[in-house]
Amino acid sequence: MIKKFTFLCKPEVIYGQNSITQLPEVVKSLGGKKLLLVTDRNFSKTETFTRIKKLLKEKSIEYVVFDNISGEPSTETGDECALFGKNHNCDIVCGIGGGSTLDTAKAAAVLITNGGSVHDYQGLDKVPGPGLPKIMIPTTAGTGSEVTFTAVFIRRAEKKKGGINSKYLYPEVAILDPLLTLTVPQNITASTGLDALCHAIESFISKKANFLTEPVSLSAIKLIMENLPPAYKNGSDIKSRESMLYGSFLAGVCLANAGVTAVHSISYPLGGVFGIPHGIGNGLLLPYVIEFDIPEIAPKLASIYDYIYGHSEKKDIEKAEVFISEIKQMLKRFKIPRLKELGVSHEAFHSLAEDAIKVAVPIENNPKPITVLDIIKIYQAAF
Ligand SMILES: [Fe+2]
Repeated sequence: MIKKFTFLCKPEVIYGQNSITQLPEVVKSLGGKKLLLVTDRNFSKTETFTRIKKLLKEKSIEYVVFDNISGEPSTETGDECALFGKNHNCDIVCGIGGGSTLDTAKAAAVLITNGGSVHDYQGLDKVPGPGLPKIMIPTTAGTGSEVTFTAVFIRRAEKKKGGINSKYLYPEVAILDPLLTLTVPQNITASTGLDALCHAIESFISKKANFLTEPVSLSAIKLIMENLPPAYKNGSDIKSRESMLYGSFLAGVCLANAGVTAVHSISYPLGGVFGIPHGIGNGLLLPYVIEFDIPEIAPKLASIYDYIYGHSEKKDIEKAEVFISEIKQMLKRFKIPRLKELGVSHEAFHSLAEDAIKVAVPIENNPKPITVLDIIKIYQAAF
């Protein structure tokens, strides 16, 4: 029997090598006359970005470039990008880059039409109306921001991260061109890939997982587990880059529909207070949160094992342990630091855990109820 579920399919997705060449047509099909092109400082200096600007010029598409993004964006970065787009009378937005860039572009699109600042809209359903049309082009295989309704910003003064979560943040079109991911450095391949792995696993074990998301999450987990190590080892291996971009997209679709769980909540304050990158924070916590969840999810973890490694007669708990140990080995191979190496001290655990429990939606999605004390133990395990 199929239980009741809802599933939102957005945006239009254009996937494939050289699909970037379709950008001018997409801008025109959305009625854009002046494009706000959002990227980061590094990508704006690449030959690929020069080629993209040439594509737009050849089709007479007017654009301005905002590239004042480095690292995870602050609320000020989002506001600055929106003001820039508004001052240049942009009527369509395109983000090209990693999750930080795409989040900034998505937020700018709704700020330009609605006014206000990022800070006003952090939370759930606070954006009053639609934004400008949005085209998202990821250059990393990780955040899934190209297919989600979320944009995350750091409130520097408070040292806290907060997401704008609104249906108006869904992009209209996502262009997924694996060739754009070939030059991502090894450490970013690892951290963004681990974020995608978290989206895939967390959406699979989430209380909101459903009949449609579960098989998609499983596919994403297998794609990422099998292709992240070769993509890390050899960045120009196009086959693994293709599978990673496809896998992170699937994981993003499941994240948008089934949510994430405690890994993301517990990682959030590590980013806000200690500046630990999102993918690193999630990755280093992942095995310890799943270990905590085992009593509720051993059969699910066993089904991941069967799907990846083939069916065996092992007990569910044994399969779960093998899967978790595979993740731990991957973290070692990618040289993902432990909390102590990132400057987090024991003394900080309590206040971090108090902040983490307030990231309420993923906490509620977690398959096993979790307390502040449990979270402190998880930080300890990842120390
Ligand atoms: Fe994430």
